[in-house]
Amino acid sequence: MCGIVGYIGPKEAYPILMKGLHRLEYRGYDSAGVALMDQEIKLYKQKGKVSELEAFVKGKDVKGTVGIAHTRWATHGEPSQINAHPHFSETKTLAIIHNGIIENYSVIREELKRRGYHFSSDTDTEVLVHLIEDIKFNEKVPLEEAVRIALTQVVGAYAIVIMSKLSPNKLIAARKGSPLVVGIGNEEFFIASDATPIVEYTKDVVYLDDEEIAIVERDKELSIIDIRKETKTPYVQKLEMSLSELEKGGYDHFMLKEIFEQPRAIKDSMRGRLNAPLGIVKLGGIIDYEQKLAKAKRILITACGTSWHAGLVGEYLFEDLARIPVEVEYASEFRYRNPVIYEDDVVLVISQSGETADSLAAIDIAKRNGATILGICNVVGSSIPRQTHAGVYTHAGPEIGVASTKAFTAQVTILTLMALRAAQLRNTISTTRFNQLINELDIIPEKIEAILRQNDKIKKIAAKFKDSRNFLYLGRGYNFPVALEGALKLKEISYIHAEGYPAAEMKHGPIALIDKEMPIVFIATRRGMYEKVITNIQEVKARNGVIIAIATKGDKEVAKMVDYLIEIPDADEVLVPLLAVIPLQLLSYYIAVMLKRNVDQPRNLAKSVTVE
Ligand code: M6R
Repeated sequence: MCGIVGYIGPKEAYPILMKGLHRLEYRGYDSAGVALMDQEIKLYKQKGKVSELEAFVKGKDVKGTVGIAHTRWATHGEPSQINAHPHFSETKTLAIIHNGIIENYSVIREELKRRGYHFSSDTDTEVLVHLIEDIKFNEKVPLEEAVRIALTQVVGAYAIVIMSKLSPNKLIAARKGSPLVVGIGNEEFFIASDATPIVEYTKDVVYLDDEEIAIVERDKELSIIDIRKETKTPYVQKLEMSLSELEKGGYDHFMLKEIFEQPRAIKDSMRGRLNAPLGIVKLGGIIDYEQKLAKAKRILITACGTSWHAGLVGEYLFEDLARIPVEVEYASEFRYRNPVIYEDDVVLVISQSGETADSLAAIDIAKRNGATILGICNVVGSSIPRQTHAGVYTHAGPEIGVASTKAFTAQVTILTLMALRAAQLRNTISTTRFNQLINELDIIPEKIEAILRQNDKIKKIAAKFKDSRNFLYLGRGYNFPVALEGALKLKEISYIHAEGYPAAEMKHGPIALIDKEMPIVFIATRRGMYEKVITNIQEVKARNGVIIAIATKGDKEVAKMVDYLIEIPDADEVLVPLLAVIPLQLLSYYIAVMLKRNVDQPRNLAKSVTVE
């Protein structure tokens, strides 16, 4: 969602800010803006893409070594030039950029209106900048103190950066519920909503904690206070991310690059955690909590979107291997439905971004009920790993495409390792089966390579179906979540309606839809509920349905029943989701490309959903 970049240092700020905004484009947005400090604050903003802002600014004065810039994903007020950030205060002395939502903005707005303030936009952000100005003038305090007092009065989530004409060598940044990172360079500072705009300038970063305020001043050390006025010591961390991970590296889209990165991403997620020859699974991040996990009466998995689908695979894994009852919950429902949570529950939160608002709220509820909370997350230093008791990073590397691909397979890999370890501790798995599964898991990356080599074949199948308006995805057992994930991938990037169902559920409703216009994608791999799925395929054939099947290599029976076949290597059913999802990702990708969709930034979607 919205993106923030700030700079203060010896260089011209504008090129750094614009490059930063381009790096943040993947998050999703609908307008962009920039403010630069010279003698005055120069502020430019535009509806649409960053390139449209650049075109608008061309030829104008962009001088200044201090600046802030923003990409906005509309919440309060339509996407428009007026609602775009930065926003000026009443006297144009202050300019602010803001991610998040100020929930009590209308009360503050009415009060400020009574005191003579004017509002030109529909945003909650403008309320905040006027409030800060009001406090600054009335209390006669330094900017950081005015910001601090204002933040004690607002309810909601924020990551903000503020510049003031009266303190031209200073930026004030603060966060609560929305991430903010300060990069420390050579006599310069960078501020951003994630590390992607910073990584090419410095690897030294400080992730702000909730309710912290950073004072970033030319020729001074970074200083941090919290909203209770306590001084904090900045904790400088080294970024692990590299610049090449943020570039397309010769691929047409980030999504395709990330699909092809999966063998490497899965290896990275297993590195140091799986030693197949020695029969060891060791998850350092949760080592102090693995007994809690093994002894849990119940595991509650909560997540959103693709991460929720990974959670569903987790349900099969933990119940099947470790015999622990599992419930999988959409975080958005879990947070509001007064769930029953016990102190001996383990709540497992899965998130690529680590910033999903609903998942963070689910953590809050679980904490209040005294449960142990573990996380599986991709973005190092993000909010979810900070809020959980312990967790495991997926180490899939930055995922830039809005459609999640490598994060999903890395999450499933970690869930497999966790379930295997829990099973080992609970003695619910024989050593022979444990060793068989870890040895197979170890070579999954090579099997994925083999699937990726069928790229051209999958592209040809995509060409046949690009004009279909509806798709049905069917699978059973471990392949049911894969069917859901296949359908989600297609709809989010191609805008084609697609639904995933457990294959047997088809006859309770969706069977009515079947005709020769609607392709049915079956995940019909040989292990698990193979015979049952074959029956479901026959039911579809009997009604003239057109079938694309993902089947095990060499399966002649499925081959002769279906219209299009994509073969994947044989694997234990426990591990099949890691393979079966790959052709579905490629199928969606090519259909979307052929329909000329914006694959990496599909309409209306954001990479990290930081609002409800
Ligand atoms: O960052 P998270 O994993 O918490 O995000 C959850 C969903 O928003 C995300 O998986 C979304 O569904 C993706 N666009 C799916 O491709």
